[in-house]
Amino acid sequence: MSDNTITFTIDGKEVQGVPGQKIMEAADAAGVYIPRLCHHKDLPPRGHCRLCVVKVDGRPKSSCTIPIEDGMQVENDTEELNEHRRMVLEMMFVEGNHFCPSCESSGNCELQAEGYRLGMITPTLPYIESHREMDATHPDIFVNRDLCILCGRCVRASAIQDGKTVFAFEGRGIHKVITVNAEHGLGETLMDVADAAASVCPTGCLHTKRLGYTIPVGQRKYDHRPIGSDIEQAAH
Ligand code: SF4
Ligand code: SF4
Ligand code: FES
Repeated sequence: MSDNTITFTIDGKEVQGVPGQKIMEAADAAGVYIPRLCHHKDLPPRGHCRLCVVKVDGRPKSSCTIPIEDGMQVENDTEELNEHRRMVLEMMFVEGNHFCPSCESSGNCELQAEGYRLGMITPTLPYIESHREMDATHPDIFVNRDLCILCGRCVRASAIQDGKTVFAFEGRGIHKVITVNAEHGLGETLMDVADAAASVCPTGCLHTKRLGYTIPVGQRKYDHRPIGSDIEQAAH
């Protein structure tokens, strides 16, 4: 490492990084996984989901947005933080309409995978039983808003990578939903199935049509290895 090396700790383990790196980036490089949902490696971080909150010198901070500093002490894998993360996940589950056994994304879904990793068995909060409008107007992609966790990945990917600004948020609080920049739905936008925005959704909300069950249940991304294991194993 150069003279610019920044040294800090995560759960007592010494980690090194470079100036400007976010805590999550430096942790990834060191093989330490911090749970996440709105973060995507090809998109700028926005700190929407709060799943990646760690404690920095005793204070809660989003690890995807906070740069590393020399000597900082980061707590990540603690019972207190994991309990907070389970609660964040529970809220996402009860605010939507998630029934994993019948969902085509089961096994490939990051929300479900984080739930398994963090030991969230079933929500303890009451279900809101949302019924948000489905958008199936596009020939190749549907938007099942009941599975949306408002992570904003599609908004960022469409604007930054595709240069189209197809997606945006509408409404506030419990009425906030993902929307598109056309009156009659996604089919009326410039969205193409090859767009980056079509492949960044961490849940089954944005889904390609006619691709149902091409990978059998049991052979999907998280069926055998927990989310984050690629990061943890890459460093060994
Ligand atoms: S989107 Fe994910 S969490 Fe929601 S029902 Fe489908 S598999 Fe389950
Ligand atoms: S549609 Fe998917 S990518 Fe877009 S905000 Fe909802 S969950 Fe995130
Ligand atoms: S991953 Fe950091 S706030 Fe969502």
